[in-house]
Amino acid sequence: MQTTLPAVPTPDDAALWHGGRLYLADQRLLPDRAEFLALDDAPGVAEAIRAMVVRGAPAIGVAAAYGVVLAARTAYRAAGPAWHDAITPDLDLLAQARPTAVNLAWAVRRMAGLIARLDAADPEPALLAEALSIHAEDRAANRRMGDLGAGLITGPTDVITHCNAGAIATGGYGTALGVIRSAYAVGKVRRVYADETRPWMQGARLTAWELMDSGIPVTLQADGAAASLMAGGGVGWVIVGSDRIAANGDVANKIGTYGLAILARYHGVKVMVAAPTSTVDMDLSCGGDIPIEERDPEELLSCGGRRLAPAGCAARNPVFDVTPAALVDAIVTERGVVLAPTLEKMRALMG
Ligand code: MRU
Repeated sequence: MQTTLPAVPTPDDAALWHGGRLYLADQRLLPDRAEFLALDDAPGVAEAIRAMVVRGAPAIGVAAAYGVVLAARTAYRAAGPAWHDAITPDLDLLAQARPTAVNLAWAVRRMAGLIARLDAADPEPALLAEALSIHAEDRAANRRMGDLGAGLITGPTDVITHCNAGAIATGGYGTALGVIRSAYAVGKVRRVYADETRPWMQGARLTAWELMDSGIPVTLQADGAAASLMAGGGVGWVIVGSDRIAANGDVANKIGTYGLAILARYHGVKVMVAAPTSTVDMDLSCGGDIPIEERDPEELLSCGGRRLAPAGCAARNPVFDVTPAALVDAIVTERGVVLAPTLEKMRALMG
């Protein structure tokens, strides 16, 4: 728990519980403005997740866990000892805020498991302790994945990353950016090429901001520039995070990751997916079963408030795609590394 609230959010302090409220760095404003948004109730947290105030699979799980704490407070104030029934609508609201990242449902399910074991007394202290644990465990998992992922890289090499899988997309340190941080620290990464990541520009706005803040050399490139960069040589790895990994090792991640993995295979570049086991969904046999979020086409038709396409132009805006396991060289989790993932290997990992 945070005793003092920093004046502005930093990459590693983008979600904080302070004074009974949840503070989230408003990621829609970064890097121009680093500002916290304070949240007091679960519907507010659900809306913050939907509207991309907080984004990135593990980070929305952490935010939802704190959202359950706020839901419990509301339910206990309204219903007293009958709070168990009163909390259910808020749990559903949180779990359904976005569909693809399974960390969200995972976190709400874990909090609901504790709720089922609690008695009629005020649930907030116990639920807050659990939310803080989820947050701390995610940070620790990222550190572990950083070490494991860095161990796979024989450098020095350049790497490409897509979207933002950094500290602000997680409980801290980052998944893909955690691996990059750890590998850079031991001289294995020379430079990071960050895809800008249309249409939300997570690469341009967030990954570039985080890596520059950490003093790690970063060069921004248009999403379509990855092929010619790989053809030129020097790039050893594509390193990305994930929103959901199916039982057979198929990986959902930000739209464009699939294309990047195809390019990587063609050019002999390896693909590493760094994600905690809270991202693995053993209930789904393959990536085709992963629900892919479709967002408002307006996100594509305009940029920074300026309309790009002619009025009336149709647009499709799936914001994730699925990379088949066959194109993934390594899945790195806090429990260990799975090389060339298959159903059997994923089962062995998950136990
Ligand atoms: O739509 P977003 O910004 O939530 O998408 C995020 C991603 O695709 C990340 O790569 C993924 O969540 C891994 S974050 C550690």
